[in-house]
Amino acid sequence: MSTSRRSFLGGAAVGALGLPLAPLGARTFGGQDGAGLAIEAVGRKRIPKTGELLPMIGLGTSRTLDVDPTGENAELLQVLSGFLAHGGTLIDSSPMYGKAEAAVGELLGRLGRSDVFYATKVWTDQGKEAGIRQMEESQQLMGTPRFDLMQVHNLVGLEVQLATLRSWKEEGRIRYLGVTEMRDYPKVEELIRDDLLDFIQIPYSLGERTVEQRVLPAALDHGVAVLVMRPFERGRLFTAMKGEELPGWAADFGIASWAQFFLKFLVGHPAVTCPIPATSKPHHLADNMRGGVGPLPGEAARKKMIALLEG
Ligand SMILES: NC(=O)c1ccc[n+]([C@@H]2O[C@H](COP(=O)([O-])OP(=O)(O)OC[C@H]3O[C@@H](n4cnc5c(N)ncnc54)[C@H](OP(=O)(O)O)[C@@H]3O)[C@@H](O)[C@H]2O)c1
Repeated sequence: MSTSRRSFLGGAAVGALGLPLAPLGARTFGGQDGAGLAIEAVGRKRIPKTGELLPMIGLGTSRTLDVDPTGENAELLQVLSGFLAHGGTLIDSSPMYGKAEAAVGELLGRLGRSDVFYATKVWTDQGKEAGIRQMEESQQLMGTPRFDLMQVHNLVGLEVQLATLRSWKEEGRIRYLGVTEMRDYPKVEELIRDDLLDFIQIPYSLGERTVEQRVLPAALDHGVAVLVMRPFERGRLFTAMKGEELPGWAADFGIASWAQFFLKFLVGHPAVTCPIPATSKPHHLADNMRGGVGPLPGEAARKKMIALLEG
């Protein structure tokens, strides 16, 4: 068993199949959410390279936060405050997402909050200086002097940008570095095996499981944290299960909606650190955060989940 596999299991409750049964660091919060339900803090998983605990449901910002930052944005403000109220911290953005970085900075400012895990990306093939200018602009827009995580977006300008990220990390200008990618999995695997990354961000969902073959096992063995983009396949999974009832056994995992079913499938995988669903609606946000509360499905339950979708 690799060090990373041991340290992952070391902190979690372990079931008969050797799989974690409950999220780490379960905490309860006071108060109720918009649906009148008690707010329970989302569980946490460890970032393998440091052991730092990270709330296991994050927030994506593609399209949903691409809004005029100076507008009222009342619902989005509720999405962000709901996210924080459930103990969420990781917010993922990119200069590719239009006004999203500026909207995150503006809305967090209105909420008076900066205690989040700031993650964004560098996305340019125009060289080192262009990458630095872009990251400094992202700092201004999101309102943080230091990013927790900086990722090379879709491997664009990979060697040049990764070299800057390494020196920024040494200088303490970012805490973690990583890449995002949706297609070139052999390259992602190579970077993992060469021990060049703290995080990867890849697409993974109940219906799209290509990364299970090689990428997730490599990440687990080399102690690389995994952020999951497109956990709902941009909403396609909801369409696929429309009109279908949840199976009775879903309640064993505290699952009360399809969103929670899809997210628990992901966080039940030992390599997955944090899916980052995006939403523009406060009630969807509350639903999604509950995908990180309570027991997690082990291998057998996750197989039943796949069979249900395929059936
Ligand atoms: N290459 C890359 O680096 C890359 C690529 C893609 C994505 N990403 C990151 O990953 C994040 C997530 O991916 P995504 O935004 O493409 O797709 P996603 O999170 O899989 O799906 C978002 C869609 O699901 C809907 N939704 C969310 N919660 C729901 C719920 N509880 N019930 C019903 N519908 C719900 C949202 O609509 P509502 O607004 O109506 O809730 C939205 O249309 C992005 O925002 C981005 O941060 C990175």
